[in-house]
Amino acid sequence: MKQRKGIILAGGSGTRLYPVTVGMSKQLLPLYDKPMIYYPISALMLANVREIAIITTPQDRDQFQRALGDGSQWGITFTWLEQASPDGLAQAYLLAEEFLAGAPSVMALGDNVFFGHGLSALMADADAQTRGATVFGYRVSDPERYGVVAFDAEGRASSIVEKPQEPLSDYAVTGLYFMDETASEKARQIRPSARGELEITSLLELYMLEHSLTVQRMGRGYAWFDTGTHSSLLDASNFVRTLQSRQGLQVGSPDEIAYERGWIDAQALDGRIRLFRKNDYGMYLAGLIR
Ligand code: DAU
Repeated sequence: MKQRKGIILAGGSGTRLYPVTVGMSKQLLPLYDKPMIYYPISALMLANVREIAIITTPQDRDQFQRALGDGSQWGITFTWLEQASPDGLAQAYLLAEEFLAGAPSVMALGDNVFFGHGLSALMADADAQTRGATVFGYRVSDPERYGVVAFDAEGRASSIVEKPQEPLSDYAVTGLYFMDETASEKARQIRPSARGELEITSLLELYMLEHSLTVQRMGRGYAWFDTGTHSSLLDASNFVRTLQSRQGLQVGSPDEIAYERGWIDAQALDGRIRLFRKNDYGMYLAGLIR
């Protein structure tokens, strides 16, 4: 099997966060002490992915490139792709088809934050599946806001519906999608929904109909935030702040992950430390070398 490649979907209009996002891309907003997109980048790095396509709107691409560079500071590479209008999550697989070049993929939404002991192992299991798709179900109190998966008596996915008025379960599908190399071909088969989008749930349904969709439940030990509203953004920021100050460990630091995995050496990390020398993030990175 070819090496799995990563996709981060960071376009969209961000209207739910207006007026904050009128002049600024949502996924670059601060999530406590780092740009929001650092968290999904970290998730993909923990999944061992080193080639990542970042999909942005045409107008925001420069800003993202200024914020993230070419990835070499983390021993990874970024490929920049543009989505001209927000026509749905599944469109990512059409835009990234050439980048993927027949490789399996893992896509993270640019506004999703994952945290939990065992996250790397959970993703390693998903990565090991060579056929089909794997997604994660997370119990929430407001499933109608998400893609919702219901299960049959054997615990297999029996339906997946985007923002159902009457959810059949409390399990939201999180914004982390492992798919085999057939994803782009499947994305070509789906048609826009009533709201005019190529829905990710439609793509997952195609896998479900082929009996090749795995839904892993992310249990109590995990935190998952989607930062789609002002209050969920604040909740996620407070979570990161609480955990970091209690433990003295960083949540979602691509610098730390790159260094710990040996993708960059101490000299490269030192360059980053000098850039951030005036703040706690830089001091934290300095502590990794000591
Ligand atoms: O967060 C998980 C949920 O994400 C899933 O449970 C849903 O099935 C999935 O549809 C999605 O729901 P959202 O309501 O959060 O989707 P939203 O339109 O907010 O888009 C999610 C992110 O993707 C957001 O940061 C903007 C970006 N985006 C969205 C669309 C529709 C794009 O970059 N391009 C797009 O075309």
